[in-house]
Amino acid sequence: MHSFGYRANALLTFSLTVLALMCAMASITDNFNSPSPTATVQILNVNRFQKKASGDDEVAITLDISADLQSLFTWNTKQVFVFLAAEYRTPKNSVNQVSLWDAIVPTKEDAKFSIKTKNKYRFIDQGSNLRGRDFNLTLHWHVMPKTGKMSADKLVLPGFRLPESYRSRRPAKHPAKAIAT
Ligand SMILES: *[C@@H]1O[C@H](CO)[C@@H](O)[C@H](O)[C@H]1NC(C)=O
Repeated sequence: MHSFGYRANALLTFSLTVLALMCAMASITDNFNSPSPTATVQILNVNRFQKKASGDDEVAITLDISADLQSLFTWNTKQVFVFLAAEYRTPKNSVNQVSLWDAIVPTKEDAKFSIKTKNKYRFIDQGSNLRGRDFNLTLHWHVMPKTGKMSADKLVLPGFRLPESYRSRRPAKHPAKAIAT
């Protein structure tokens, strides 16, 4: 007759084998999921565009980001990290990448969203290259699985352009009233 210890051990080994198999299957079936995320981004406003004292250009914008990343979620998805970057060429660098916004998407329900937001991280060029600059907005994502390898991809939204000239802060929302004489 088998001892209790032997049986417990056999059960544990069996459980671990099943668990390992399930993990392997989870990450394999994940590879068959061919997601098709969609996104659109609009620049609602250029709030400020200036050359800083340091000589670097800085632009502050308001974005409207709409995305449907639900197809990235499978039963093996823990969460999705997403960030929006401005990508542009300058005479010095073939690729400049500036991260403007990011978020962690915890569930499939949250993966379809539309938000209006100012750039969360500063859009600064190391130089004075932003006037009239063409750029792409690229939505990058990293899918963090419950088990298996992390995967990443992106969606390029081309065809954006910064204004030709600097502009200062918008006028105050409540300008001083004219004094009637
Ligand atoms: C912007 O996107 C277009 C079209 O996908 C691509 O040809 C171009 O190289 C991109 N520009 C940069 C700076 O990545």
